[in-house]
Amino acid sequence: MPIPIQELYETRIYPAMSHPLSDPAVSAVAAMLGGLAVRHPAAARILEIGCCSGLNLIPLALRWPGSRFIGIDLSGSAIATARELAGAAGVVNIEFHAVDLRDFKPAGGGFDFIIAHGFLSWVPADVQAALFAFCRGNLTPTGIATISFNLECGWRPRFPVIEKARAIQQAGAGDEMSALAILRSVTEPGSPELAIIDDMLAKGPAILAFDDFGPINDPWPLDRFVQTAAAAGLRWLGESHPGNNLPQNPDARTLEKLRGHSTDLLAFYLAADATAGRAFRSSVLCREDARLAERVAWEQVFEWSVRGAFLPSSSEDQRIFQAIASAAPASVPLDVVVAAMPGCDRRDVARRVGEGIQRGWILPRIEPVCFDVEPPPRPALNPFRLECARRRLPLVDIWHQPCSFPAGHYAVLAAMDGSRDLCGLAAFSKRHCPELAFEPWLRHLAGRGLFT
Ligand SMILES: C[S@@+](CC[C@H](N)C(=O)[O-])C[C@H]1O[C@@H](n2cnc3c(N)ncnc32)[C@H](O)[C@@H]1O
Repeated sequence: MPIPIQELYETRIYPAMSHPLSDPAVSAVAAMLGGLAVRHPAAARILEIGCCSGLNLIPLALRWPGSRFIGIDLSGSAIATARELAGAAGVVNIEFHAVDLRDFKPAGGGFDFIIAHGFLSWVPADVQAALFAFCRGNLTPTGIATISFNLECGWRPRFPVIEKARAIQQAGAGDEMSALAILRSVTEPGSPELAIIDDMLAKGPAILAFDDFGPINDPWPLDRFVQTAAAAGLRWLGESHPGNNLPQNPDARTLEKLRGHSTDLLAFYLAADATAGRAFRSSVLCREDARLAERVAWEQVFEWSVRGAFLPSSSEDQRIFQAIASAAPASVPLDVVVAAMPGCDRRDVARRVGEGIQRGWILPRIEPVCFDVEPPPRPALNPFRLECARRRLPLVDIWHQPCSFPAGHYAVLAAMDGSRDLCGLAAFSKRHCPELAFEPWLRHLAGRGLFT
């Protein structure tokens, strides 16, 4: 009999963190590429379902003070932590509710963004159905839901490993980690299961109990997701990061396999997922009755900001990439990129950038991000990051990426309240964490925008 979900999340602390794939600054671009006139997240109502202790939602509320945020979760203890963190951070545009999604009746109108990250594959069938029905009933006409889920083709090979480890556990091996270690020692060298076992061991005990060994572990294929959404009155618009629709840099074998599916987009993506052994997607849905533009006007690309992900192969694209990279690490409006390319044709750049976004070598956002990469004279984390440092939780960087640290580093981070100058902080670091190479580390933190 599986442990009930609520008991698991009340009695063990879920290692919550931020999830860049759920960031509305990027999913809004994905929606616009799908032809939807989505609202700007700086003036929006944003809900997170299964928000846990708020590490994903609070930084978004800090980023967009003009928007309203609601987080809900079944776990009362996670919601209590979320409220404490929001209080310590002084965030006033957010509220948290400990409630089962099936009982949640929000007041105040629909949502422009709904986020359900790490939720669908970990809840029972009636809650899965409630998620789609909730989104259909509570999205605004131009709203989007970003829902992540594990993919069957990449996740399924884990099940025999989980079954064997559980059998070892039942025979008295103790926790999941010990069972996996025993399983590893008796697995044939060269077996594909070894890589899976190593991956599970690398996740560690804090995450394994909720992840591979969670009481419900239900990966879906993409077509089931799209069809279930459609039956609930929702339309699939693709991935929340537009460059993630296809696995990046497919090899020749993959391309050959995909060629036969080139006319049916869903079949094409299914084949791509299967070939790549993909295990995860983060998809965007809108209402079935939403008005979608048939094609995206090329001028629209100029509303977004961009940064580079990797060097493309064509020389014309490389010229654009270099212009983007000259502003790195900032994400800059396309006009800035064009200004760095005298004599270029705006329309041609817009077309190439649009393609670059779909292929993943350009990372788009709905708004620019610019910050100083030099450490400030008196390093100060904002109150939310400072509170996370005190609690040894991951810190969320400027790209909404979580940064975790070895235990000793947290004492130095918690001292970054603006009261010490660089010399004082270096001395503090030497005293409390002698193994830390303080200066390069501080530069690394500044380079991730942690002092903004
Ligand atoms: C796997 S965790 C994911 C947490 C977070 N979204 C993340 O991705 O890191 C699933 C979360 O959903 C919550 N949850 C499960 N069933 C729920 C329900 N019926 N209503 C609301 N929250 C629920 C759990 O308490 C837990 O915090």
